[in-house]
Amino acid sequence: MRTYQPVIDNRRVLIFADYEQMTGFAVEKWTALASAAIRHKDCFTVALSGGTTPIGFYQKLSLCNKNVAWDKVHIFLADERFVPFDDEASNYRMIKENLLDRIAIPETSIHPISTRESTSERSAHWYEEHLRDFFKLRRGELPSFDLIMLGIGEDGHIASLFPGTSSVSEKARLAVAVTHEKVSNERISLSLPVINSAKTVIFLVSGTKKAPVVKKILEHNNDNVPAARVRPERGKLYFLVDKDAGQYLSQSLR
Ligand code: 6PG
Repeated sequence: MRTYQPVIDNRRVLIFADYEQMTGFAVEKWTALASAAIRHKDCFTVALSGGTTPIGFYQKLSLCNKNVAWDKVHIFLADERFVPFDDEASNYRMIKENLLDRIAIPETSIHPISTRESTSERSAHWYEEHLRDFFKLRRGELPSFDLIMLGIGEDGHIASLFPGTSSVSEKARLAVAVTHEKVSNERISLSLPVINSAKTVIFLVSGTKKAPVVKKILEHNNDNVPAARVRPERGKLYFLVDKDAGQYLSQSLR
């Protein structure tokens, strides 16, 4: 059973009995958002994250061949590791294997972050230019994705924006290169202003290890935690949390 929570501070928090129910709801939400955007403007733009949490969700979503007009969907990445696409650590590889290879989506509608550039910084520039071209942006404008899907690290990082790195406070760039002592690969990430310009942001959070950070974000509003700084200016924000990840939340929230 899923529990509908009151809107906390403009964030809609939903706690589910288990991962299956959480991802089932995420698929319903995705298909509803995609249909509405396609009806309205003939296209649905989404940025997807890596990590292990969304794998089951991508697989479930790939079964929606009938409910989603995949030829109208454009899939971007929220972040990427600076490795070749066939590397074990590549987010594109993971999303391709679990979703893209299983659906009828045109190649031209898939927008991976090029890691063929000579440095992660150049990759970030490449991605930024690609976003500017696709969304037809003028200097200073931000893209507004219909949906950005994010996970949360145990330290509260989102996409590849880690606590204590300058990437979190980036104000002008659309994409940033990130190095962090705790991760082995350099990374490229959408910047926080881009995330906060999305029409909808959905967090998928699962497992006991995430329980402390979920409490910090939702109840302590600790701004040192990047996930707590996700506040879409004109968009909607959903925290889809399974029971284990939500176990430290106050009774009033559960
Ligand atoms: C990545 C991410 C990252 C991820 C979190 C949560 O490429 O790893 O996009 O931000 O979402 O680290 O990862 P898990 O889902 O594996 O817990």
